Amino acid sequence: MGRLRLGVLVSGRGSNLQALIDACADPAYPAEIALVVSNVAGAFAVERAQRAGIATAVLPHRDYPDRAAFDAAVHERLTGAGVGLVCLAGFMRLLTPGFVDAWHDRMVNIHPSLLPLFKGLHPQQQALDAGVRISGCTVHFVRNEMDAGPILVQAVVPVLPDDSAEVLADRILGAEHAAYPLAVRLIADGRVRVADERAIISGGDWRAAPMMVPGCGP
Ligand code: GAR
Repeated sequence: MGRLRLGVLVSGRGSNLQALIDACADPAYPAEIALVVSNVAGAFAVERAQRAGIATAVLPHRDYPDRAAFDAAVHERLTGAGVGLVCLAGFMRLLTPGFVDAWHDRMVNIHPSLLPLFKGLHPQQQALDAGVRISGCTVHFVRNEMDAGPILVQAVVPVLPDDSAEVLADRILGAEHAAYPLAVRLIADGRVRVADERAIISGGDWRAAPMMVPGCGP
């Protein structure tokens, strides 16, 4: 069977795109990047894709009369490239319900919090403001509600007393770079199905490992 063809949507620096590029460089990885689409001209993510020899499309959203027209152009590029899974990787634009429905269970997003906590903007600052001891990232299927949808993978990091939002964001980003390729691998291996709006992953070797932050010695 061929590798799953990814279409990665980006707007910015593209470190998650890079994590996917690096994962796909392994011939044993079950996915490949068919196309990178950016709505921002000059985004560093586009340079990363070009450097890796990946096809890119830059579609500045202001060139389109409305969201539906922009989304239709993106959809056409993705289908034209034979994309089977859309990966939002720092794509900072809301998608129309028509687009989201067209890619139902075939579009994933990564968000830098443990959803359903801290949706929307500045999730790292939201975590600091809430005083939580752990945070992390979530890879989930995309639904019309922002930062919601069946959860595939979550990765956890500690929140340390002196963290600024930037320091916490960097720590979470490290977790994102492991979580995103893992989530894509699970889908590409055919191990994921959605039932009652929850993602069921087959064949997992799950072991419960308690994690506590701060850890308390004896
Ligand atoms: C990542 O932290 C990603 O989780 C976040 O934007 C950053 C993009 O970084 N996405 C969202 O907040 C979406 N709600 P990157 O361009 O280096 O991958």
